[in-house]
Amino acid sequence: MSASRRPVSPERARGRGLGLVCAFGLAGACATPAAAPPQPLPFDHALHATVELDDGPLGCTTCHAGAERGVRAGLPALSTCLSCHMRPQGDPPSSEEARVRELAASGVPLRWIQVTRNPGHVYFSHGAHVARAGMACAECHGEVTTWTEPPTVPLRHLTSMDACLACHRARGAPTDCVTCHQ
Ligand code: HEC
Ligand code: HEC
Ligand code: HEC
Ligand code: HEC
Ligand code: HEC
Repeated sequence: MSASRRPVSPERARGRGLGLVCAFGLAGACATPAAAPPQPLPFDHALHATVELDDGPLGCTTCHAGAERGVRAGLPALSTCLSCHMRPQGDPPSSEEARVRELAASGVPLRWIQVTRNPGHVYFSHGAHVARAGMACAECHGEVTTWTEPPTVPLRHLTSMDACLACHRARGAPTDCVTCHQ
């Protein structure tokens, strides 16, 4: 697998600008909602969406293998990151980038924290929505390709029974309790 560098996306540049404003405490809008959960590594979806492989852009399912046909989308193992980050990436590679290899060398297991998550009594299946109903990731998750860092707060409409039911009614999908509580 090989990857080449492309210019920093406008979203990423904007994200950095906001960080600067917040650092100076200038805008009330920056008042951070909740403390971000401690993710084991930095991760930037917008930056990785600009990475080109030999056969096209880096797709969602490279890192979320179950997102089209499985129940859970899944979060990537360190080996997925290392398929590129075994060697330094970026021109020049940043100190953040080196943390991928530092974690690998430390032997500490990689455990991402899933922010938008339902309680265990809720059954949700990606395959039913993506492979069967043909829905795009963005219909539920929004424009993930603009995320410059992991989300800090759950998406309310993906953890709300009313929101699930509203779409199920609108699209003639099943609404009986056992559909989502098994
Ligand atoms: C297909 C190759 C590929 C995979 C897989 C990949 N990356 Fe990257 N990553 C890159 C490239 C290329 C860059 C440098 C992009 C640039 O600077 O333009 C990069 C940059 C980074 C950076 C530095 C970002 C910054 O702001 O300086 C971090 C951190 C990072 N990746 C973490 C990860 C993690 C964690 C994973 C696994 C979940 C991962 N990457 C998977 C190719 C990849
Ligand atoms: C119908 C809405 C919907 C669509 C379409 C959808 N998702 Fe999700 N996704 C969810 C919900 C709801 C959750 C939270 C599931 C839970 O409670 O654990 C989730 C969770 C996730 C997670 C967290 C990890 C996991 O294993 O669940 C990832 C990653 C993810 N989705 C990626 C994707 C990708 C990539 C696509 C497109 C291929 C996609 N999703 C399409 C609703 C959707
Ligand atoms: C190079 C690997 C990689 C690629 C490609 C990738 N993701 Fe992710 N994704 C991650 C990692 C790592 C996390 C956990 C950290 C974070 O949330 O940024 C994550 C988390 C998520 C989550 C869960 C956020 C939560 O609630 O915790 C969603 C949803 C998601 N990704 C959707 C997508 C979609 C849609 C695409 C394609 C447009 C995509 N991802 C492409 C690595 C990747
Ligand atoms: C934007 C629309 C939309 C949203 C939001 C949505 N769904 Fe669905 N869901 C559908 C559609 C359409 C189907 C029917 C798929 C098919 O069989 O063609 C479906 C099917 C399902 C199925 C499979 C039912 C079966 O008969 O196998 C489950 C389980 C499910 N949804 C759970 C959920 C849960 C839980 C949520 C909220 C976290 C949710 N859905 C949110 C549109 C949605
Ligand atoms: C389309 C999916 C879906 C269907 C159908 C569904 N639920 Fe839910 N339900 C959810 C989700 C998602 C949650 C978790 C979010 C929440 O608590 O609002 C939930 C939560 C709940 C809770 C816990 C509420 C709480 O406050 O903790 C109960 C009780 C419940 N559902 C009962 C039912 C009953 C009874 C039915 C049938 C009449 C039903 N559900 C049908 C998706 C669904």
